[in-house]
Amino acid sequence: MAVTDTSPPSAAAPVNPAGAAALRRIADLPGPKGLPKLGNALQIKRERLHQHAEAWAKEFGEVYRFSIGEREFVVLSNPEVVAGVLRDRPEGFSRTSRMTEIARDFGFDGVFTANGDKWRRQRPMVLAGLDPTHIKAFFPTLVKVTERLRHRWHRHAANGRPMDLQAELMRFTVDVTAGLAFGTDINTIGSDDEVIQQHLDKILPALFRRLMAPLPYWHWFRLPGDRALEGHLAALNEAVQGFIQSARRRLAHEPVRQERPANLIEAMLVERDREGSELTDADVAGNVLTMLLAGEDTTANTLAWAIWLLNEHPQIAVRASNEVNAALGGEACPTRYEQLGQLDFIEACIHETMRLKPVAPIIVQQAAKEREVAGVLLPAGTLVMCLMRPAALDDARFPRATDFDPDRWLANDGHAALAASSAKRVVMPFGAGPRICPGRYLALAEMKMVLAMLLASFRIDSVDTPDGLPVQERLALTMSPVGLRMALGSAVD
Ligand code: HEM
Repeated sequence: MAVTDTSPPSAAAPVNPAGAAALRRIADLPGPKGLPKLGNALQIKRERLHQHAEAWAKEFGEVYRFSIGEREFVVLSNPEVVAGVLRDRPEGFSRTSRMTEIARDFGFDGVFTANGDKWRRQRPMVLAGLDPTHIKAFFPTLVKVTERLRHRWHRHAANGRPMDLQAELMRFTVDVTAGLAFGTDINTIGSDDEVIQQHLDKILPALFRRLMAPLPYWHWFRLPGDRALEGHLAALNEAVQGFIQSARRRLAHEPVRQERPANLIEAMLVERDREGSELTDADVAGNVLTMLLAGEDTTANTLAWAIWLLNEHPQIAVRASNEVNAALGGEACPTRYEQLGQLDFIEACIHETMRLKPVAPIIVQQAAKEREVAGVLLPAGTLVMCLMRPAALDDARFPRATDFDPDRWLANDGHAALAASSAKRVVMPFGAGPRICPGRYLALAEMKMVLAMLLASFRIDSVDTPDGLPVQERLALTMSPVGLRMALGSAVD
């Protein structure tokens, strides 16, 4: 077993003295040499942190340590060990105390950042709001939002100018999240004005900057970037309160919704108003912002990577188009939920994209109790950095591991494979265990919709960067391609 509870069952009991003697301590682990006080901070470019950590894993192995300032991280990349840590939640590991503190400052302390009982109370509500039944019921709206994106892209195709791919996809993902989780049609796809995304896309990079800062400088002073951030947070808070007020109006006008809330925000408000409920107004608001943030970049970035990879591999793109045309029978976009089930090759392309370009390449957790992990004794409070990509790029596990080969995810008959389940134990783009991403069904449905619509309705003329150089990865909590632009022509040209 990769993870063992070595914490004493009671304060009086000894800490597994015989076992502990055989364990390595963190100080015994290998790792890059650092400087006093600064640790390895000067060797790390924050937006490339995942690449530095992956390179060190090649040099120092599946368990090593490094530090940023005085914050030391134990880095793990063996998938069984990583899965063991992720499954050992909430008892053994939790989100880090710095993450929880920053989220509280930013007003998005919801299910993503909560720990312990607070997380236990919120998780079932969020799971229910994002489960496949809700997604099926939401499908007609998903079709409407995808159709809007198609119309918008037809206008781009007509004027012949390349578009900012991620900005386009984020309009889609935010409109979908607001529709499903809040029952509100915000239609940023239909707008050319300032949209909520211009505030949202400042938050995760700011959060990541603070998470990785050697010292919590914001306790003592504000930098210009922090002052700008306050403006973005205020605008988002206003938007969040708007979603809550409309949901409250619906609950007041249609009392049947009190019995059967139609979406996550209504379910949370009903729970908030229940006598004896422990959910607060701040919890509801925190979860509204959490949904917007958790659903925006992750899905949009994965889609951007998938579109880029398809464009780089024309033969695979042709197979994907053929499958889409067969499933859609000449339609420009899926219109029936069942059609999504006929897109096995598209789904394989998505899994393969997430293997090569996981948008969450690192997941950092903190030991809630003393634990033994992979033969190392971790005191309570230890920061553990799980690397999600090294095993996915290991030739011993995936032959020609760096190739984009969606067939790995298919059985010989071309259907989504049971054989792929062993790959799924290694490739964990949505995390694992009790805190696995509850938005994964929604994300998969969104990605199939957009890819099917794109391949059925357009000819992709180019997907590139403004300077024509190879696309770079940038980590800002999620990992995105930098500056991708897409130019389209109509498929019927
Ligand atoms: C391709 C798209 C997505 C990817 C790759 C992704 C990935 C992840 C990952 C890696 C985690 C952390 C899991 C862990 O700690 O084990 C997570 C958590 C979470 N995700 Fe996603 N996600 C995606 C889309 C979404 C969407 C669309 C939503 C909702 C609208 C969402 C909502 C959440 C929430 C609420 C959590 C926190 C769960 C908890 O801590 O209990 N995600 N996601």
